[in-house]
Order: sequence, then C-alpha cells, then structure tokens
Amino acid sequence: MSTERELHLGLMFWATGTHAAGWRHPDAVADAAYDIGLIQEVSRTAERAKFDFVFLGDRLATDPALQHSNPAQISRLEPYSTAAAIAAATSHIGVVVTANPTYSDPYSIARLLASLDRVSEGRAAWNLVTGADAAAAFNFGRDAHWDTDKRYDWAEETLQVVRDLWDSGAGPDGTGARRIVHRGRYFSVDGPLDVGRPPQGHVVVLNAGTSDRSRELGARGADIVFAGPQPTLLRRKEYYADIKARAARYGREQQVAVMPGLTPIVAATTEEAVALYDRLNALLVLDPDQEVGELVRAGGIGEGHRLNLGSASKVFGVDLRGCDLAAEVPAETLARAGTSEEGARRLAEITRLTRRTVDGPCRITYADLVHITPAPLSHTVVGNPEEVADMIQEWFEEGAADGFNIYPAYVPGAVTAFTELVVPVLQRRGLYRKEYAGRTLREHLRLPVPPRGTAG
Ligand SMILES: Cc1cc2nc3c(=O)[nH]c(=O)nc-3n(C[C@H](O)[C@H](O)[C@H](O)COP(=O)(O)O)c2cc1C
Repeated sequence: MSTERELHLGLMFWATGTHAAGWRHPDAVADAAYDIGLIQEVSRTAERAKFDFVFLGDRLATDPALQHSNPAQISRLEPYSTAAAIAAATSHIGVVVTANPTYSDPYSIARLLASLDRVSEGRAAWNLVTGADAAAAFNFGRDAHWDTDKRYDWAEETLQVVRDLWDSGAGPDGTGARRIVHRGRYFSVDGPLDVGRPPQGHVVVLNAGTSDRSRELGARGADIVFAGPQPTLLRRKEYYADIKARAARYGREQQVAVMPGLTPIVAATTEEAVALYDRLNALLVLDPDQEVGELVRAGGIGEGHRLNLGSASKVFGVDLRGCDLAAEVPAETLARAGTSEEGARRLAEITRLTRRTVDGPCRITYADLVHITPAPLSHTVVGNPEEVADMIQEWFEEGAADGFNIYPAYVPGAVTAFTELVVPVLQRRGLYRKEYAGRTLREHLRLPVPPRGTAG
C-alpha cells in the first residue's frame, strides 16, 4: 500500500451465498457451485465494480453440520482450477486461492500459484490458512490435526520456502534461475522452481485466522489479513491496531491491509432491506427445540449454537421454548433477556439489523432471538445504499478496516445489489476507485514487485 490509504474490496465467493438460507432465495442458482459460467459472470460483475479480487475459500474435508451455517461449503470445485477459469474470463480482477500448507508441500504450492500468476498475468493471491477442519487429517493419512503451534511453525517455513522458490524461477528473458538448497526444520528443497518467477514477483499473500500465531504470521508475512468477526467496533479497532503494531515491528505497517468480512443486505430503501433480511431469515431451517448447544460448524471459524428457541433460551438465560416465533416478545421478557452483557449486546444487534426494539411500537420477535443466536461468519449491515456506505466509511476512517471482503448473502442477486447500489455511492464520496490504476493485483493494492531475494 502507499501511505495514502485506499479502500479495498474483495468478493467472498461461495456459490449459493454466505447466508445459511441463501441457497433457498428464489434468485439463487441451486447448482451454482459447479456452474463455471455463473462463477465467471459473477466475477465479471465484481470486475465491473473495480473490486480488488474474487476470493475462493476452501476446506479439505466436508461436514454435514455445515448445512446449518454455510451449506455452500459442503461441496464445490477445488479453487486452483476455478481461479484459472475466472482468470480466463476477466482481465483486471485479482483471484485469491485458499491453500492450506498443513496438507501440501512448498514446491507444489509455489508452482501452482506461480502458474496461476502467469495464467492471470499477475492477478493471483494465496489465502494461507492452517485449516478449519480437524477432519482433514483423516483425508491425508494423518492420525490427528496438528496443534496450533505445529501448524503455524509448518506454515511459516512453508511461506519462506515458497517465496524463495518464486525467487528461484527464471525471469521473463529466461535467465536468472538458481537453486535455493533449503534445509530447514520440516523441508529440504533444492529448486529452482520449474515455473518462471511469477509476474508479481511474489504472489500476493492473505492470511485468515484468529490466534496469536495467526496474527503474527499475518503481520510479518501477509499482504492482507482477512479478519474474522469481532463483537464491537471497539474490538475491531483493537484488532486492527494490534495487526498494525505487530506489522510495524517488521517495518511493514504500510504493507499489510486489514480486511474483515462484511455481509451487506442492501436495497433501495431501508424498509426493503429489512424485508429482505427478514425474508432470508424466514427461509432458515430450524433445529428441533430440544437440540441445544454449540454443535453447528460455523463455516471456518469454529462452532456455533444450534438454530432454535432452545439454544436462544440458553444464550439469553430465559426459557423461550415453545413460543410462537412470529409473535412479539413481551417487554418484561426482553428486559430479563437483556440483563447479561451478552444478552444486551445481542438485543442491540437485533435492533441494529431489524430496526425492531425492546420497547417501541415494532418490537423484537421470538424469531429475531433465534436468528441472532449462531456465531456470525462476518459483520452484517442492513440498509439502503447510503446507510451501508456510511458503515463502510466509518470503519475505514475510524481505523477498523482498510477494506472489506464482501460476503453476498445469496448469488448472484446480492453481488449485483452491492455493486450497483453501494459501489457508486462509495465512488461518489471519493472513497473508492472508478478505474483500475493498473492490471495486476499488486498494482491494485499499491504494492511494488519485490526484488529477488527479499523473501523475509
Ligand atoms: C475469516 C476466516 C476465514 C477462514 N477461511 C478458511 C478457509 O477458507 N479454509 C480453511 O481451511 N480455514 C479457514 N479459516 C481457518 C483458519 O485457517 C484457521 O485454521 C483457524 O481459524 C484456526 O486457526 P487460528 O487458531 O489461528 O484461528 C478461516 C478463518 C477465518 C478467521
């Protein structure tokens, strides 16, 4: 990044949307995960809005419990081939591939990403994750998922070797290839890479995680930190400041962009946006009331509560089982539900999203208490284009984000709504680019091509 801050936007692509009921929206395409034409079209929509990148998440195991939180993650194409198809259908937008080094080796990662950077002419990025799924271990001949320290030790050495390998490849004139002869704790790699040095020098690196080790890896080695959800603006600002302070210790404060996930539920008017949010939530399939607890996989970031009045009772400390979901909750019940700090925070969150209140003429319903129960995948904002843009501007200007990874609740409708309704507002306010300044992802991020031998 240059010293003048610029807002960045990525598109978090899950083919049937990031809302748990996104696949049931009438505009959704049920088999979109395998519809490469649709994936390319959605990528072109994001490119027309001058997004920095399309982001392809990935996991190395499937889990039926995801049907409750993120059904789009149950089954899909692997990301490298999807990214190549997106690159072939677009000309400017970056393409982010999620690859977990725990179950791969540096040479394979280096050559796959170097190839993608060639195919896309400098638009590739690597989302380095250490793995959402313990079950992945059993797909790769392991007895167990490694603990955090081993996964991050392995990931850090992988990143070093991958960058060294990128540096070892021949330049555009076919010269400059050299061996690296890496002898480390986990890897022994000679090189050189049999794919030339990537057009970006080093493919852009993102890191997503929550632990201290993840923050350190992101600050020291990533170009973008993909931040998980935080409950309050204060906590988001603390997270942002923490990443920047850590990055400053490596002289990289200007080089690391912090981009949280954002789910915009946007329509022409506030009332229409709230109606859309309510409609999506009404399409959720609830668990039986007696099944209570933290059993639902929350799409990459741990476990969340089941979706029913039983779990909501547990969260709010009030017995809500058997109540009519559509009914308004009596004011005295809401008062009890709001006595704990967590309960009060969630009630305020419901009001922020639905505009229904604890004591006004349009009161919070039992369904609202259920819908706010699971752990959020990202921050959600519901509103008209100006309201959504206000939130983006506030976070950007208050030092909580350098940009956002946009989670479309359903596809393609929510992508189109954001790009057509919100991006023009951001552009009018001078917050977002109207044209790409260059062709490569590094150029969009204002990151120079690193000279050879600067792999850190
Ligand atoms: C916002 C976010 C997105 C993530 N996306 C993925 C993903 O696509 N695939 C994956 O295997 N893990 C994903 N993860 C999981 C992380 O890679 C990491 O394994 C997990 O958060 C546990 O590590 P930690 O203790 O450092 O957070 C994601 C995590 C976060 C916070």
